[in-house]
Amino acid sequence: MACIRPIYGGAVNAVGLTNPGIDQWCKEIAPKIDFRKYYLVGSILGEPEELKEMAIMLNDFNLRALEINASCPNDEGDILTNTKRVIESCESAKVNSRHPIILKLSVVHDVKTIIKEVKGIVEALSINSVPWDVIFPNRKSPLAKLGGGGVSGKIVQSFTWRLVRQITDITDIPVIGPSVWDFGDMERIRMMGAKAVSFGSVFLKYPWRPTLFVKKEKN
Ligand SMILES: Cc1cc2nc3c(=O)[nH]c(=O)nc-3n(C[C@H](O)[C@H](O)[C@H](O)COP(=O)(O)O)c2cc1C
Repeated sequence: MACIRPIYGGAVNAVGLTNPGIDQWCKEIAPKIDFRKYYLVGSILGEPEELKEMAIMLNDFNLRALEINASCPNDEGDILTNTKRVIESCESAKVNSRHPIILKLSVVHDVKTIIKEVKGIVEALSINSVPWDVIFPNRKSPLAKLGGGGVSGKIVQSFTWRLVRQITDITDIPVIGPSVWDFGDMERIRMMGAKAVSFGSVFLKYPWRPTLFVKKEKN
């Protein structure tokens, strides 16, 4: 069961990776997309063999990049704690994909080790939502039945932005900074060393803000 709950200054979700599956996406959805008009990044998670298969399937489409989602807090596997698996996932994607690889990290990863090993393999790093227990170790999640969920938005800025700074301190792999909530956040994230920003749960609370912010910045 997928679920989203608004919390003050953000959201907690246990949507996980619910979608019709890559076969259906490749057969029915992708052929209807104009990839020259819409710039898309594919995002995949799986065992190494599955990743290989998916990376090859997605070679048929002109994606801007292929993201390895190594950080979904709602995944039942060990991707948040298995450093070797994260690194092998990137290696598998690199060998089998024609697209630039983005690695999506979590604040709970062994970031130092991972970054050392993926240098030259991934083109950029992005950052996922934060497991509920990390933010609220003593408070029950409204999505406790679904494992607690991932927290995102303004409320996690101190966690996700600390990771931005930690990454930019140790590598020149470009970082895409998350948790934009207010207009000034984009500049704040860049000042921390991020080369780009991403809009996530701000869309849930203020769906107009990302477009407004981008337009405002252009003017
Ligand atoms: C409702 C919802 C669903 C999400 N689903 C996914 C997902 O399927 N895969 C993923 O990698 N991240 C997922 N995320 C995480 C976001 O992509 C983003 O990394 C995270 O929310 C942190 O950014 P933010 O603080 O700007 O929201 C989801 C977030 C929300 C709020």
